[in-house]
Amino acid sequence: MNDRINLSSIRACVFDAYGTLLDFNSAVTRERNAIGSGRVDRLAEIWRRKQLEYTWLRSLMRRHTDFRTVTGDALDYSLAALGINDTGLRTRLMEACDRLETFPEVPAVLGELRRRGMTTAILSNGSPSMLDAGIASAGIGDSLDAVLSVESAGAFKPAPEVYQLATARFGIAAREVLFMSSNGWDIHGAASFGFRCVWINRSGAPAECLPGAPVLSLSSLTPLLRLFGD
Ligand code: LAC
Repeated sequence: MNDRINLSSIRACVFDAYGTLLDFNSAVTRERNAIGSGRVDRLAEIWRRKQLEYTWLRSLMRRHTDFRTVTGDALDYSLAALGINDTGLRTRLMEACDRLETFPEVPAVLGELRRRGMTTAILSNGSPSMLDAGIASAGIGDSLDAVLSVESAGAFKPAPEVYQLATARFGIAAREVLFMSSNGWDIHGAASFGFRCVWINRSGAPAECLPGAPVLSLSSLTPLLRLFGD
């Protein structure tokens, strides 16, 4: 595995946030009773899908706005799609976006990478206030050297200028970045830019048919540590 990634040339481990470190679905599952157990999975799925669609559509329309606004718009669509009219629930779901649960292995993996001297960062669509709140709530701030929001680029993933935020921040080449995301399309965007990418394929999704490719696919972040030597 080490040969395929040639870790000696990796100078920063950069992580996507939502779906990779922070469990976006945890906002919805926390409100299971109010939503109704029969609609929880559907709401989580439509909300996340619409949230991403709106980032791509706004990019094509050249009508950028921040991820918190996009997330609220996507939630409004999703609640309407399921016939849910509950302003209190809407408020609670948006507030829950600021205190999402981490996937179980996240604190230990980030902490261990830092202990081994690796530079670590988040590179996310999230607006700065969402990321700050989410990272504080998750208690992982001490394990990160940088938190990079697409808002500095004024564009969403997978625009190349977003991935460039990481190379510019650390003054390194794209191929010196090891990028981890659970989102297949994000992996292809980052690989197309030149990052070496590890797809954290938590859901066992099929490979995307897009330019760029991961150097490795894992089912969680835990095996990442083995790449750097146990
Ligand atoms: C992010 C989304 C893509 O954190 O998950 O950038």
